[in-house]
Amino acid sequence: MKVRKAVIPAAGLGTRLLPNTKSIPKEMLPLVDKPVIQYIVEEAVSAGVEEILIITNRGKSPIEDYFDYAPDLEERLRFDGKNKDADTVRAVADMADIFFLRQKETKGLGHAIWRARSFVGDEPFAILLGDDIMLGKKPVLKQLVEAAEANSCSSIAIREIPDDAISKYSSVKIDHKISNRVYSITDMNEKPTPDEKLSNYAIMGRYVLTPGIFDILEHTAPGRNNEIQLTDGMKTLCGMEHFVGVDFEGRRYDTGNLKGYLESIIDFALKNEEAGAWLKQFIIDKAKSFEEF
Ligand code: UTP
Repeated sequence: MKVRKAVIPAAGLGTRLLPNTKSIPKEMLPLVDKPVIQYIVEEAVSAGVEEILIITNRGKSPIEDYFDYAPDLEERLRFDGKNKDADTVRAVADMADIFFLRQKETKGLGHAIWRARSFVGDEPFAILLGDDIMLGKKPVLKQLVEAAEANSCSSIAIREIPDDAISKYSSVKIDHKISNRVYSITDMNEKPTPDEKLSNYAIMGRYVLTPGIFDILEHTAPGRNNEIQLTDGMKTLCGMEHFVGVDFEGRRYDTGNLKGYLESIIDFALKNEEAGAWLKQFIIDKAKSFEEF
């Protein structure tokens, strides 16, 4: 079982980051020196993915431009002797074979994934949510691909979270442990109350699914928010096929809300070679003597 293709759904409205996201896709918001979506494409590539489909909608064309060649800019940079910058700009476009497809109507994550059926065809594929950054010593998607290959089935990223956070996620029912960090999953539900949760393990934005999901999504009725929910489709899939969850090793940043976005900016800036040490001292000083302006 080889996972060669990935889908990055990026057709949401991004309402939690308005007004920024009125004209800038949230996937294009900068994280220090690159936009959020570049980290996600890099993770896919480092997990062995060769072809990526990004699902977009109206207003997301800056994503297409970002992964295209920029001949005028490159020519100018080379003319000015800035070959390193020209190479950086070119490398972004050469990272992988990237395709684009519009969702046209915001009918939910499940509907966005269903739109990828022709691109994916009849093979297992990965999904990486366009606003979730995952950093692990081993790329998180790679951890999922290995679990999917070892068990010849779908695998999803899961993490244990407290009761007061579970209603923001989907919870999963764990049947038994299969191997280190890998669990058999037999049921799931979307955004449960603490009473409805199936466990404290929540689904996080990485998936490797078998192509059986497409037939299921085609017949999945709109659920929460009147949208076609991927969780509803996967609930059916895990009732039909073996299905595992990976309690992944690594950090996760949800850049789609203000606090998560700020946390990721600070962490990535602190790691930045040029500005990290300076920022650390700046934050210490600021915390001692911050005055409102
Ligand atoms: P979110 O729940 O984060 O929704 O979607 P959103 O619209 O992007 O952001 P908010 O909640 O309004 O701030 C989860 C993922 O599903 C994609 C989003 O792009 C994101 O990657 N999505 C959601 C679609 O591609 N299409 C949809 O119709 C809905």
